[in-house]
Amino acid sequence: ILQCYNHGATKSLGHVTVVIVGGTGDLARKYLWQGFFQLYADQVGKGHTFSFYGGALSTTEKGTPLLFDILKELACPAELSVERCALVKDQFLHLSKYHQLKTTEDYENLSQQIKQQLGQEGIIEAGRLFYLSVPAFAYADIAEKINNTCRPPSEAWLRVVLEKPFGHNLYSAQALDKKLSGQLKEEEMYRIDHYLGKQVVSKILPFRKENKKLLDPIWNKHHIERIEIVLKETLDAKGRIQFYDQYGVIRDVLQNHLTEVMTLMLMNLPANLSNSEEILQNKLNFLASLQHVDNSNAVVGQYQAYNGEVQEELNKTKDYFSLTPTFAGVVIHVDNAQYEGIPIFMTSGKALDERVSYARVLFKSNVFCVQDPNNVQCKSKQIIFYLGHGTLQYPAILLSKNLFKPELVSSGDWKEVTEYKDVNVLGLQLSDYYIQSPVTPREAYCELISHVFFGRKDSFISAEGLLASWEFWTPLLEGLSRVFPRVYPGGVDNGNLLNFQLKGHQVAFSHEALVNVINPGAEDNFQVMQGKYRSSEMVSAWAQELVERLASDLLLAAEEAIREEGQFHLALSGGSSPVALLRALALNLYTFPWRNTHIWQVDERCVPHTESGSNFRSIHDLLLQHIRIPYFNIHPMPVHLTQRLCVEEDGGPTLYEKEIKKHVNGSSFHYILLGVGQDGHTASLFQDTKLENDEENLVILTESPNKPHQRMSLTFTAINRARRVGVLIMGKSKHELVSQLSRIKGESSKYPITKVQPKSGTLIWYIDYDALLG
Ligand code: BG6
Repeated sequence: ILQCYNHGATKSLGHVTVVIVGGTGDLARKYLWQGFFQLYADQVGKGHTFSFYGGALSTTEKGTPLLFDILKELACPAELSVERCALVKDQFLHLSKYHQLKTTEDYENLSQQIKQQLGQEGIIEAGRLFYLSVPAFAYADIAEKINNTCRPPSEAWLRVVLEKPFGHNLYSAQALDKKLSGQLKEEEMYRIDHYLGKQVVSKILPFRKENKKLLDPIWNKHHIERIEIVLKETLDAKGRIQFYDQYGVIRDVLQNHLTEVMTLMLMNLPANLSNSEEILQNKLNFLASLQHVDNSNAVVGQYQAYNGEVQEELNKTKDYFSLTPTFAGVVIHVDNAQYEGIPIFMTSGKALDERVSYARVLFKSNVFCVQDPNNVQCKSKQIIFYLGHGTLQYPAILLSKNLFKPELVSSGDWKEVTEYKDVNVLGLQLSDYYIQSPVTPREAYCELISHVFFGRKDSFISAEGLLASWEFWTPLLEGLSRVFPRVYPGGVDNGNLLNFQLKGHQVAFSHEALVNVINPGAEDNFQVMQGKYRSSEMVSAWAQELVERLASDLLLAAEEAIREEGQFHLALSGGSSPVALLRALALNLYTFPWRNTHIWQVDERCVPHTESGSNFRSIHDLLLQHIRIPYFNIHPMPVHLTQRLCVEEDGGPTLYEKEIKKHVNGSSFHYILLGVGQDGHTASLFQDTKLENDEENLVILTESPNKPHQRMSLTFTAINRARRVGVLIMGKSKHELVSQLSRIKGESSKYPITKVQPKSGTLIWYIDYDALLG
């Protein structure tokens, strides 16, 4: 029997009303009533009085026996004697009642009942705890009912506990947050992530703090080889497809449980572990430092029987295919000096070979074992936060003995384990580890219920933390919504099918799938096509392949220029098209000769470089900060002179022109990368841009019809002098434009891009299939 302990008695006495909305549902049956029973057993006689309501939509006649069936099965807390438990349980049953909670009147009626009872007995009210164990779509409505009818008197507290899912992506989470915050104050909302109630998870920060002196020198990129955050399950999603198919594994566990674990492991240690504001701030800072993830950083799978289960449970026809992943492997990188370059593998799946969850930090080995490879110094060095199941079977923190002997994380309720079963945990025998583990295993829900009672908000998800996590995951989820998951048979039969591996900062499955049941012929997608567009060369492919091809063409151009002239002058545009390219250049092309490359700008917005709208800022964030390029090879456009932006008299364009002439032979860039706007503009040269002096000028100030209006731009003279010009066009939204341009012969004043005609250089169009085919 799992037990639940309190964390010291509370001083404020009075009556507490607990209402489980959805009180006869699955979660309530499995965990919640047990948790509240144990809270009661723990608190009885310590000054508080209680009443418990199980609420649901059914009538009292129907609901009462259902609730009774649940309550009579409650297990006794281990610390109570049989007699004492019988007594406490009897009291608990007397204090627990079913109450129909459907209409506003039902809630009003409940509130009246509470008031009356307390009035009659002359007891003051300490607080009301509502636990919403219902589907998320019902939250807003219930929150409104509670707010309108069930608020306690002002001296008592109101706490409303909510279960995930909190939204489906960033936008729906924001919308839900807005609705709820119209009814409840942030301090009244307790968003549960049951992983935060797991004993090992709640000890990650204390463990790091307790062992700070020894961990500090090794908790960084110089010592950590990789980090793994893993939740493997043997169970499938059968029976809960209605829910699961809308969410999938990333929303179900990676966005919440595993992200929380990763955050606790890598966020800056707060100076004070009980300062929830500091903890929250450090969590937010960490989430903000994560590198963006997209499809190239993830692999997804779906167990074979899943689709049949979907057809059955959702009443779909036999030709219906769900793309919902039941398995995902993602690699995450952190963008800060402490952790940059460390791959964090996060993975979870249903229908795998074993049930286990852990977070593991594997350290680099700095020992060369000439002989005696079994010596302790030659074995792998790792710290494992083992949440449970697997070969070990109990929650524990394990440290390889060749690291150091850790302090016990909590002397009262944790113990050192010194009896070793003969099992292997992640590559080492148990005897190779220092192990510490909770004295008594406790259920996460039970722990969190007691935290709600004591108002310990730091064990719950804040609105800001929630939105920050969704902000990180949403772009990947959007990208994956069109990806076919790899089908896997389930269980041990999966063999090596789901193994995945790093490729630069990206990941891919390590082995080819023999048959891809739901996506035959997918390999055809990866072809790069070559042809003609507007009488020039065109390369076309799906976005990812196209970007890789462009990156490798840039590499060839750079190598050629450096061979011939010792330097490569590359001018980059702003906007959204080059984003994927810059990432590919930064993170995957390790051989790019940055030392001899000069980076110039094609155009810039008249905003300070520190602002997010600045093109230089995005070149900096996406590329420059990740590569080793000498500072003096970087040439941002001087839009910010004498404390003001793009003022004619400050002569910004002339300055830039001088700089170009100084460095670039014949002002002829080796490569200019352009994009095209919906309206046909390129660089910051628009339909209405006056180009009278264009013949002589290389750089001018222009006006965009869009904000920020003022721009600085290379002119056609500068562009057409380049040896190579690449025009990158991506996305469905550009399809119309691509078709129109293909019909126009020669120049058109309506479409500035048509004036790009290198005099002696070459022009190549890079157009992805979405833009080309629509
Ligand atoms: C839940 C998910 O939040 O966590 C389930 O909805 C998953 O799909 C479960 O099985 C895993 O929790 P635990 O505690 O069993 O690791």
